[in-house]
Amino acid sequence: MNWVTIDNIFQHEHETVELRGWIANRRSSGKIRFLQLRDGHGIIQCVVTADRVSPEAFDLADRIPYESSVIVRGEVRKDVRSPIGFEIGVTDFAVVSQAQPYPISNKEHGVGFLMDHRHLWLRSSRQAALLRMRSVITAAARRYFDDLGFVSVEAPVLTPTACEGTTTLFEVGYFDRSAYLTQSGQLYGEAAAMALGNIYVFGPTFRAEKSKTRRHLTEFWMIEPEMAFYELPQTIDLAQGLICKIVEEVLEKCGPLLKVLERDTSALERVKPPFPRITYTDAVDILKSKGVEVNWGDDFGGDEESVLSEGFDKPFFVTHYPSDIKAFYMKRDPADARLALAVDLLAPEGYGEIVGGGQREDSLDELEKRIKAHDLDLEPLEWYLDLRRYGSVPHAGFGLGIERTLAWIAGIHHVRETIAFPRLMDRLHP
Ligand code: 4AD
Ligand code: MG
Repeated sequence: MNWVTIDNIFQHEHETVELRGWIANRRSSGKIRFLQLRDGHGIIQCVVTADRVSPEAFDLADRIPYESSVIVRGEVRKDVRSPIGFEIGVTDFAVVSQAQPYPISNKEHGVGFLMDHRHLWLRSSRQAALLRMRSVITAAARRYFDDLGFVSVEAPVLTPTACEGTTTLFEVGYFDRSAYLTQSGQLYGEAAAMALGNIYVFGPTFRAEKSKTRRHLTEFWMIEPEMAFYELPQTIDLAQGLICKIVEEVLEKCGPLLKVLERDTSALERVKPPFPRITYTDAVDILKSKGVEVNWGDDFGGDEESVLSEGFDKPFFVTHYPSDIKAFYMKRDPADARLALAVDLLAPEGYGEIVGGGQREDSLDELEKRIKAHDLDLEPLEWYLDLRRYGSVPHAGFGLGIERTLAWIAGIHHVRETIAFPRLMDRLHP
């Protein structure tokens, strides 16, 4: 049988096709039954009339439970009222599995209820659109680095030490001792860059963040390039190129998804190089001028970032943060030792940080001092110090958080909808 998917239906006008999917909705009007069939690729209206199907099938079309799985056969017809321009004139349909009463209906459900039913909520148009767009974004990011000749390297998930500070580590039993879920693949990425030149790590990362905000997950995915012989400016250019590539592919491939999400695409069309570049010190001045109480040396939280990012209509870089508020591995600015050669990329429209990175400390002595200053043990980091003992070079990299990037591009409020099964401080189910 001519099994097709709804996204390709336009190629089959006048043909008799088979569709396989689920009943998203149905209604009856006089002698006609309308089934909304969802197949994961789209939704199409299937029109069932008594003259074209068996009496059993006609009867079933009036009472088949929502989300039952079915196989529908029929003719593809043009229909100007349909959002996709076509409908199916059903000649036959068969039930694969009749569903029990479906818990999610068209009425408003609270977020807690929907999150409890996340495994079913994924079937809604909006959630499915987000997952599809996520897949476009991750593929675009990979392609960007692949096309530049970067090597994809996996970092371990089970690690012996912290990368991003000891307060957000998830500890797990590891035989007779402890291990930690990785906070970032960076340190391993640096080792791989010394072996391969340019690499990227793409994997899940974990932070035991006691933050219940719209931008914090405890498990999230980061793509982390690391480049031997790069300094801060080239790293910024690389991040800018990545964001442009991602947004370009979303605009090119996700038109219908952006519509489902009601995203204002003009905001995305502005995402063209060059992105503005300001220093941390500039950012503090901007915040002060907007009445935010902040002192030089304070770290920015979500609120400060939101205020800053409302002042820009495209993503922008903030560089040269105080070294005291940045991780131990950050290289200090040779021109001002109070500063780190750090860079964050903040998304506009109030979204805030989506990329963090910078140039790494490449001097063995300095790095040892930084580790001690951060109260970290040298011993478990000896392997990392080896990278400075054996042919150290200037190098740099960054991490792009997939969920925050998708939240911004899709224009949604909370990162919990940007990953299939979000892990939050108070959510480990389903
Ligand atoms: O700024 P972060 O902590 O940087 C690093 O982990 C570096 N080691 C990366 C590197 O240089 N290779 O995190 C990078 C990005 C953030 O900009 C944000 O997009 C995301 O990771 N991120 C989170 N996303 C969701 N929930 C959280 N709790 C996140 N923490 C960081
Ligand atoms: Mg950061």
